[in-house]
Amino acid sequence: MRTVILKINAKKPQISGIRRAASIIRRGNLVAFPTETVYGLGADALNAKAVKKIFVAKGRPADNPLIVHVSDKESVNDLAGDIPQLAEKLISRFWPGPLTIVLKKSKTVPKITTGGLDTVAIRMPKNKIAQALIREAGTPIAAPSANFFGRPSPTLAKHVLDDLDGRISAIIDGGQTRIGIESTVIDLTRKTPMLLRPGRVTLEELQSAIGRVDVHPILKGKKSALVHRSPGMKYKHYSPDAHVILIEGQSALVHKKILKLVQQFGKQGKKVGVITIRGDKYTKNTRRVRTDSEFAANLFKIFRECDSKKIDVILVQGIPRKGIGLGIMNRLSKAARTKIMA
Ligand code: TXA
Ligand code: MG
Repeated sequence: MRTVILKINAKKPQISGIRRAASIIRRGNLVAFPTETVYGLGADALNAKAVKKIFVAKGRPADNPLIVHVSDKESVNDLAGDIPQLAEKLISRFWPGPLTIVLKKSKTVPKITTGGLDTVAIRMPKNKIAQALIREAGTPIAAPSANFFGRPSPTLAKHVLDDLDGRISAIIDGGQTRIGIESTVIDLTRKTPMLLRPGRVTLEELQSAIGRVDVHPILKGKKSALVHRSPGMKYKHYSPDAHVILIEGQSALVHKKILKLVQQFGKQGKKVGVITIRGDKYTKNTRRVRTDSEFAANLFKIFRECDSKKIDVILVQGIPRKGIGLGIMNRLSKAARTKIMA
């Protein structure tokens, strides 16, 4: 299959390109498109055959459910069986935006879309291209991140092309995605809402909107039988080829530890990369970010750059688990083979 690239302006999407992409979706084929978080790999969420193609193209296990993307709040009524008041609160506060809400599913949604679960994850993205595509397609769009299974999520069209060229019909190139890590996922099908994946909409913001929110035990580093509630959690994720070492602790100690490890791996002839927040330039391959938002926006891109430079070891400075920091540390913990307390 030849993968077509459609360049579209993210601020003012050209309708001709959007229409072309929407018609591919309507015919039951796959289009990768930008959202405000990461690029998604889209198919008609209500067409089981089309959704099957997503799992094949990505090499994704069939029990890992997809997020259904909508272009208006009313669409939730068709997709969800039951809409609790808390959902309405979250929707009016955070949509369109990087928040995915898990609800009981209606019969409209095929089982393949939800990985066999009786719940459905729904999100209304803020990106203009994503919104226009869903609207023109006239159907909700199921879309996981548009990476090959196990690879870091794509934040540029080039990343999608690197992973999925020849495996999907089209990629909309709408530039770099703004947020850089995937949406926050919250489960509203339990008595107390539960955070399943932290992201740009923070735990603190969720709590201030709806009160008590439990945090999935796995996010706190505990083993849990609840893993079936969000099958994505059990899979290794976000990994570059390099050996990622996550170093946490007081910044002066982390700094010392990084210096020591840079020397140690250097002696072994290893190519070392460093990701640090307001840190030093430890090696030729050091990437310094200034803020948590900049960290999130560039993390997956830096991972991919390290792979293309054939870097052996990436030393990453940890950050406090508050605000978007919780989401960043979640992705880093999953990517890291080694974790060190300095
Ligand atoms: O920002 C995002 O959410 C991006 C963009 C494209 O919207 N999408 C994304 O999709 O990250 P994906 O498939 O890579 O991650 C979806 C996560 C997985 O961890 C999955 O297990 C969880 O959401 N999920 C989906 N449906 C679920 C459900 N019914 N119950 C619990 N978890 C669900
Ligand atoms: Mg993903």
